[in-house]
Amino acid sequence: MSMTPLRWLKLATWLLCLAPAAQLGWLTYIGHLGPNPVETLEHGTGSRALQILLLTLAMTPLRQLTGRPEPIQLRRTLGLFAYFYMCAHFAMYLVFDLELSLPKLGEDLVKRTWITLGFSCWLFLLPLAITSTDGWQRRLKRRWKSLHRLIYPAALLACFHFVWLVKKDETEPMIYLGILLVLLGWRMPWRNWAKGILGAQTST
Ligand code: HEM
Repeated sequence: MSMTPLRWLKLATWLLCLAPAAQLGWLTYIGHLGPNPVETLEHGTGSRALQILLLTLAMTPLRQLTGRPEPIQLRRTLGLFAYFYMCAHFAMYLVFDLELSLPKLGEDLVKRTWITLGFSCWLFLLPLAITSTDGWQRRLKRRWKSLHRLIYPAALLACFHFVWLVKKDETEPMIYLGILLVLLGWRMPWRNWAKGILGAQTST
């Protein structure tokens, strides 16, 4: 089997996305998670989830900038890996922080805004993960595209989850929020607006 450039890119994407999970798994196995293992696991999975989510959102601009189809062909894999890390992140919290108590989850969802934000992000993305297959894409047709626009508010919720939970130095979450705003801003119809304004000026 010959390796086409797309196959190499897919392989690199899988390795890049699996490496952090493998690293956390290895550190757990050898018992090197530091003085607060739960925190290390929660931070490790949470920041990877957010980073890969932003990478997923960078694929459309990248396709437009390069004129190549590969970024779109990698988009689903990236999106599903982002969701994989979110599920792992949520699972750590449910098992280690809440000891699987649903009443405690209810209490946290009501009392801690940043938990509400993170959970909402996870919930918004659940239907996207479920409908990510070719079959669902075909069945839903245009509605699939509308449904998958939920990724924009979900990414904002993820960034605000991080901004809200940080107590002192907000630099890191603000960097993620800044990157997200650039990626969302890219999608705004600036050119059409500019044309509209210029058109209006010339017609008066
Ligand atoms: C499903 C509901 C979620 C819960 C219950 C949850 C819970 C948590 C907890 C307990 C922490 C550690 C806070 C601390 O140590 O002070 C955390 C951190 C974090 N979470 Fe979540 N989270 C959720 C969803 C998400 C999602 C969907 C994302 C990203 C897409 C995310 C990204 C992060 C990030 C980036 C951090 C900070 C990591 C760091 O400090 O390096 N979380 N979350």
